[in-house]
Amino acid sequence: MRQTRPTALVTGATDGIGRAVSQRLAGLVDTLLVHGRCPESLTALAATLAPANPGTSVVPVVADLGRFADVERLIQRIRTIYGHLDILVNNAATVGQHSHTLTEDGHELAFQVNYLAPAFLTAGLFDLLLVARRGRIVNVVCDAYRDVATFDQDSPGNRCYNPVVAYAQSKFALVAHTASLVSACSGTRLTAVCVDPGFTETKLQRQSFCWPGGPVSAAADNVLYAVTKPVHDREFYVQGKKIVQPLSEVLQIPVQRQLDKVTGEVLDMSLPWTATGPLRMGA
Ligand SMILES: NC(=O)c1ccc[n+]([C@@H]2O[C@H](COP(=O)([O-])OP(=O)(O)OC[C@H]3O[C@@H](n4cnc5c(N)ncnc54)[C@H](OP(=O)(O)O)[C@@H]3O)[C@@H](O)[C@H]2O)c1
Repeated sequence: MRQTRPTALVTGATDGIGRAVSQRLAGLVDTLLVHGRCPESLTALAATLAPANPGTSVVPVVADLGRFADVERLIQRIRTIYGHLDILVNNAATVGQHSHTLTEDGHELAFQVNYLAPAFLTAGLFDLLLVARRGRIVNVVCDAYRDVATFDQDSPGNRCYNPVVAYAQSKFALVAHTASLVSACSGTRLTAVCVDPGFTETKLQRQSFCWPGGPVSAAADNVLYAVTKPVHDREFYVQGKKIVQPLSEVLQIPVQRQLDKVTGEVLDMSLPWTATGPLRMGA
């Protein structure tokens, strides 16, 4: 029989904000899929979460988001073993390397980990989320995207490569992608939001930014708010716990179409949220 509490996937659950979000969500869901790239860290996390939440099945799932083959395996595993998903929290991210670094799939590292991989996960699990009772996609973004206003990746030969700019561009793409999802999901039970959790003391922040951040507990509260808040119309950008207006560029249809085109070509698939005609919710 189908459980009444939801099934959730949190990416980047082994550290920082994702770890704190997983700790909160573990008490609220039936099955919590905690994602990471390090099996030992995931096992240790599950060993902490499971005894504290006896009513929840905590399942570690491993994938390096810098490898499409890993993401593909993760999608297939979730589809085959669970066959349903209610909440997808795309939290994992990296600021990348000091110099322009390509993944083995041939993409700038931050762009692949922070945007292409979440878009791939969303595409591969979209039909499951669409038929969930109250499906929710939460993309964890960063307000730094406002400084770049484009998702263009630096070319490999670009001597001006700056990892913080590449990070911001990947987040611009994730916000524009969320805006595209919001339009596509209108009239369905599936909702999509993005959340800037606020400047927070974590590994990512210590590696790349020189000013101090707030506690992960406050950031996790903000992400939880984005997971549970009622969504009204186009109010999809959450900053802290406030709904704010996103940059106008991410709302432009040509920008969203161009991003979807690039994404579909890279992933070599027809993106389910770009299907013509109204999306159907299934039975
Ligand atoms: N901290 C801030 O001030 C701040 C501000 C705004 C937005 N955010 C956003 O908040 C989210 C969480 O970041 P955080 O600050 O909590 O950073 P964090 O502590 O560095 O955690 C990042 C998580 O992503 C995982 N990850 C990184 N690269 C990966 C890859 N290639 N494959 C799989 N997993 C990977 C990390 O795994 P490992 O443990 O294996 O490294 C870790 O679990 C990010 O989306 C970030 O952009 C953070």
